[in-house]
Amino acid sequence: MMKNNIILIGFMGVGKGTTARAYAEKYNTFIIDTDDLIESKENRKIKTIFKEEGEKYFRHCEQKCADWIESSVDNSFISCGGGFYNVTNLKKLGTVVLLDASYEWIFNRLSTAVNAKSKLRKRPLFSEPKKAKILYAEREKVYKKVADIIINVEDKSMKNIIKEIEKRVAL
Ligand code: S3P
Repeated sequence: MMKNNIILIGFMGVGKGTTARAYAEKYNTFIIDTDDLIESKENRKIKTIFKEEGEKYFRHCEQKCADWIESSVDNSFISCGGGFYNVTNLKKLGTVVLLDASYEWIFNRLSTAVNAKSKLRKRPLFSEPKKAKILYAEREKVYKKVADIIINVEDKSMKNIIKEIEKRVAL
């Protein structure tokens, strides 16, 4: 049976975590973040997992996390790491909602954030903006292909982004 989860995907820095936290605050409830789940299971930061085990191992952790969501999680708002769209069972996890914005907008959002340094430092795949831009170009079409719903977030308030998700997913 189709699950009633919202699966929030999109490129690093587009605002998936911020959106999920705003949703949690609005409804006085809890959200799930796949990077947080992996960090707690591994008992180390994403950055450290990449450094000590490499990206392939991290992708394996994401698949295990997706398997756990499939077997055990329903009726939840789930914010995913930027590469999570690649898990084999994504479409079985719930309604896939893509937060979409141009690379330039994302880069600007990250680099002008109050805590810009830490936002960039915790993301190994954003350590070189040139490489991140190539990754964005590679993923752009695939994100759109796997998404059930695409929401452009450029210059929209958090309140409106959440409203649009609710309207279009018919929560
Ligand atoms: C990644 C995105 C990150 C994190 C990891 C890899 C990616 O999550 O999962 O650094 O491959 O795009 P955010 O999208 O929350 O930055």
